[in-house]
Amino acid sequence: MQRILVRDARNAAAIGQQRRISGWVRTRRDSKGGFSFIELNDGTSLANLQIVADASLTNYESEIKRLAPGCSLSAEGEIKSSGGKGQATELHASRIVVHGWADPETYPLQKKHHSFEKLREWAHLRPRTNTLGAVARVRNCASRSIHNYFQEQDFLYVHTPIITASDCEGAGEMFKVTTLDLEALAKQSRPPDYALDFFERPAFLTVSGQLEAETYATALGRVYTFGPTFRAENSNTSRHLAEFWMVEPEVAFNELPENMELAEGLIKRIFRDVLDRCGEDIAFFNERIDNTVLATLTGIVESPFERITYTDAMALLESSGRKFDYQPSWGQDLQAEHERYLTEEAIKRPVIVYDYPRGIKPFYMRVNEDGRTVRAMDVLVPKVGEIIGGSQREERLDVLTQRMGEQGLNPDAYWWYLDLRRFGTVPHAGFGLGLERVVQFMTGMANIRDVIPFPRTPGNAEF
Ligand code: 4AD
Ligand code: MG
Repeated sequence: MQRILVRDARNAAAIGQQRRISGWVRTRRDSKGGFSFIELNDGTSLANLQIVADASLTNYESEIKRLAPGCSLSAEGEIKSSGGKGQATELHASRIVVHGWADPETYPLQKKHHSFEKLREWAHLRPRTNTLGAVARVRNCASRSIHNYFQEQDFLYVHTPIITASDCEGAGEMFKVTTLDLEALAKQSRPPDYALDFFERPAFLTVSGQLEAETYATALGRVYTFGPTFRAENSNTSRHLAEFWMVEPEVAFNELPENMELAEGLIKRIFRDVLDRCGEDIAFFNERIDNTVLATLTGIVESPFERITYTDAMALLESSGRKFDYQPSWGQDLQAEHERYLTEEAIKRPVIVYDYPRGIKPFYMRVNEDGRTVRAMDVLVPKVGEIIGGSQREERLDVLTQRMGEQGLNPDAYWWYLDLRRFGTVPHAGFGLGLERVVQFMTGMANIRDVIPFPRTPGNAEF
């Protein structure tokens, strides 16, 4: 018998069809008249399909009445219209095959409500919950949108390396990759000799694919990379992961204003697609997690982002009359509380802050005429704060070399990056959007660890 997905079987158009449905039991309820209702989920929608199983099934007493949450089965029968609340259809089973049992005594998800914190201990089972299933669908939809947005504008998808020798952000927050026997070296009190290591030099997990993306942008025009990035920063917050996914476009001949447009367009495209394709999931987040997400997403799609220089943002903060934990002062980085004040109270929508002081931004950002600021831009949103960081790039060899010196970086180590400025240099710009921050924003999930399947944070890499 032909298989149908729960999402399609719930549609009234399926009524009258003989179909097989397969999935995992969410609940079983027995009725007095000698039949049972089984709520089945297969991941294709938030909602379940109700299966009506009656006592005439050969395995009704021996198996059906023992079904518990987590059991897997296939059921065949006719899809009929349903009198039940919140469902157009149900399947009247003529045969049910149980694939796997789940002992209610030991199945962790037997109990309905666990905290998200508790669920992290069962990262291998939590995708079976409503919330994590919905997050997975929204995350998938966002990823698809990202590719569509760039592909439709003729960007090339470039696969930048995961293992690299250069520190893009210059912040020294990299995980080292080595095959040296560190324990043996420690026992002999010998320092590691990286000339003897796998790559014959120190190597790391990448913090960003930007520098490599720039090599392709300055050859092929418009490119993007989209992959995992790694940061060994020891920040145990609800917005930081040690492993996260970043999409990074890089465009030759773009300057900062076009870079802002590209970023704003990307965010709106993702939100629009998620509202269109994941309506049921967003309604769920709006009802259960954060009752502002639906209105916020719809509002953002329809209105332009505010653009404000760092200097004006500082002035706004200083004149706010607000007592902050960190007093805002020109030259200092914006703290989370400052970002929140700007996006949630002063401006009340997404804000692109640009032209930051040169001292707090990486070496590759283009220095402005004033000499004090660089062509940086951060896109800030309410609650989550920064979801995009980017800039116009420094294309002048002499200024770039000087900036590296300022930040204690050795230009020799970046010889290939400097070559891009030696040979046919062009103005160019790009940015990085953190996928998890975006998913967090769209779903209203309070902790970033709940919007990635297997979160890596300080002290956590169990699965
Ligand atoms: O601002 P960041 O550090 O920018 C860069 O890495 C640039 N090289 C990007 C570029 O211009 N191509 O990071 C970009 C974004 C942040 O705005 C944030 O959304 C996300 O990546 N991000 C993190 N997300 C989760 N956990 C972390 N530890 C993150 N660090 C940055
Ligand atoms: Mg940043």
